[in-house]
Amino acid sequence: MDFSLSEEQLMIRDAARDFARTELLPGVIERDNHQKFPTEQVKKMGELGFLGMMVDPKYGGGGMDTVSYVLVMEELSKIDASCSVIVSVNNSLVCYGLQAYGNEDQKQKYLTKLATGEKLGAFCLSEPEAGSDATSQKTTAIDKGDHYILNGTKNWITNGGTADYYLVIAQTDKEKKHKGINAFIVEKGWEGFEIGPKEDKLGIRGSDTHSLIFNDVKVPKENRIGEDGFGFKFAMKTLSGGRIGIAAQALGIAAGAYDLAREYSKVRKAFGTEICNHQAIAFKLADMHTSIEAARHLVMKAAWDKDNGNNYDMSGAMAKLYASQVAMDVSVEAVQVHGGNGFVKEYHVERLMRDAKITQIYEGTSEIQKIVISRGLLRD
Ligand code: CAA
Repeated sequence: MDFSLSEEQLMIRDAARDFARTELLPGVIERDNHQKFPTEQVKKMGELGFLGMMVDPKYGGGGMDTVSYVLVMEELSKIDASCSVIVSVNNSLVCYGLQAYGNEDQKQKYLTKLATGEKLGAFCLSEPEAGSDATSQKTTAIDKGDHYILNGTKNWITNGGTADYYLVIAQTDKEKKHKGINAFIVEKGWEGFEIGPKEDKLGIRGSDTHSLIFNDVKVPKENRIGEDGFGFKFAMKTLSGGRIGIAAQALGIAAGAYDLAREYSKVRKAFGTEICNHQAIAFKLADMHTSIEAARHLVMKAAWDKDNGNNYDMSGAMAKLYASQVAMDVSVEAVQVHGGNGFVKEYHVERLMRDAKITQIYEGTSEIQKIVISRGLLRD
């Protein structure tokens, strides 16, 4: 079994590492404090090709594999998980969804701009009463012949205020339950489309999370993705890949917190020696590193499954379930290793601890991942 990365994968990982240290680290605390969206940084990530990594070059993307993508996600997340969630949503949910299931016109019109970072995307599934229970969509899209009329509210939408193009899931025929759901491309600025207030969040505060309100929004029929009734499967299939991206984000948060804890333990002295010389700390580092390595294997396996045409519903869910728990555990321990300084913003670990929590919630809670895994186990 070959665990080595190709030269190209190592190059893209190093580029992301360098970018995160030089462009994301300065200002990350300020963006977190003020919930400031990283506009400049997102522009630069677009120029570097981080926003459409896996998109076919003929649509403006990087044509890279999922392994490269998770390497980039890990590196960005070590420093700034607010930036990495923007990358994750644009790549795994929006670009992937359009590349895999959009028609040629939709790809030419929308994907080409999303893949280069000229435009930003959002994925709109969750609703006030349809978070985990995604089939219970209350947003409706009524067929009016050559267009649909969209009404409803979406919640907790990443890139909600800053996106240009929104993939919106809505119920078109309630009787048909999940088979009466469709996905649509909606543009910012269309009449009746209102962006709700920005959420004040515990973590990933630099990212932009909003509710969205659709009030009689006219959506041309050509903006429906796939055949009539494909919307729920579209959401599920797209989210399966999204979960690999979030698993990599969780891995990065854990690895970033661990790096800071290890370095701190080598300089901070207590009881006459650097604290890494105390087993109480050295054993913590050993546990942290071991769990991070285990998470990395699950993340890489899921990415490899996707790249090799294997089903990745279960491996993606397992990677997200485990890596997000590791992100929580390791970031809490990293704060502990830092003692009083861990509670202070300038040491970064408290932010990573706050950022870690969302990885157990979005793109399906840990409980949802267990549903996906257990159903996969019991299917045959
Ligand atoms: N691929 C293809 N089809 C799938 C699928 C998949 N991965 N998962 C389910 N389906 C299909 C099923 O086969 C079934 O189709 P048929 O009737 O034709 O057989 C249909 O979808 C319904 O499936 P279920 O009966 O399994 O549906 P369910 O109601 O029991 O729900 C669930 C399953 C896994 C719990 C699902 O509702 C789910 O994933 N919920 C969580 C939603 C979620 O992740 N939300 C996150 C929001 S997005 C976000 O956070 C983005 C952001 O901004 C960061």
